[in-house]
Amino acid sequence: MSLPYVFINAAMSADGKIASSERRQFRLSGRLDFARVDELRSKSDAIIVGIETVLSDDPSLTVKSSQLREMRQREGIPENPARIVIDSRARTPPDADLFKKGEGERIIITTRRAGKEKLAILKQQAAIIIAGNDRVDLHKALRELKHRGYNTIMVEGGAALNWSLIHDGLVDEIYTFISNQIIGGATSPTLVDGSGYAASDETTRLTLISAESLDSGVLIKWHIAK
Ligand SMILES: NC(=O)c1ccc[n+]([C@@H]2O[C@H](COP(=O)([O-])OP(=O)(O)OC[C@H]3O[C@@H](n4cnc5c(N)ncnc54)[C@H](OP(=O)(O)O)[C@@H]3O)[C@@H](O)[C@H]2O)c1
Repeated sequence: MSLPYVFINAAMSADGKIASSERRQFRLSGRLDFARVDELRSKSDAIIVGIETVLSDDPSLTVKSSQLREMRQREGIPENPARIVIDSRARTPPDADLFKKGEGERIIITTRRAGKEKLAILKQQAAIIIAGNDRVDLHKALRELKHRGYNTIMVEGGAALNWSLIHDGLVDEIYTFISNQIIGGATSPTLVDGSGYAASDETTRLTLISAESLDSGVLIKWHIAK
């Protein structure tokens, strides 16, 4: 297999929004869902996010449970999975939380369009992969990650990155926690944005793995045939 196993994990409101119309993060998960996400992180080789998620949420993407971090250490791997940003123009702030918090590798996946000065600064804290000319070529990026030994990759948004990965046929599974909240807002990001499909026969079809109550919401797991 030349591609890693890729799954998207996201929390969304009952009306399918993943943040507010100002793209501000909302607390959607409850205690059990946080623990589930932490475990998924701890079992992944890498976590990928889009640059807009870094700019709006500034996530650290670390494993929060000390037991799970210790378990990784006992396995001889860093406390945290590699944290990877999809960032065509090298806009990741050098003081982003994902650089400041926790040990583990950081990777910026960028393009030939990225400014050399910005890249030189980011290079001090992260490995750099060039994949594509204008926008990150996700197929190429994932092939390179697999080549470097990243076999299981967790995607933690956002909406534009989710669309590109799904549209390009690069996702194996999608896990969504659906909370008991309505966010509303015509411009609030949804689980998958991007340009969308134009016709019903083009849509990506999912196969249900499971649906269960969790916290005050529902956890749904889907499989996508690649
Ligand atoms: N509830 C949740 O679980 C959850 C999780 C994560 C994020 N969020 C929310 O999602 C929102 C951010 O999502 P978003 O859709 O605005 O942005 P995003 O998916 O985080 O990042 C999109 C950006 O990635 C870069 N990119 C580079 N190559 C790409 C490619 N091939 N395909 C797609 N993107 C590519 C583009 O910027 P460049 O061209 O500059 O590279 C693009 O604008 C925030 O409001 C955040 O709070 C929610």
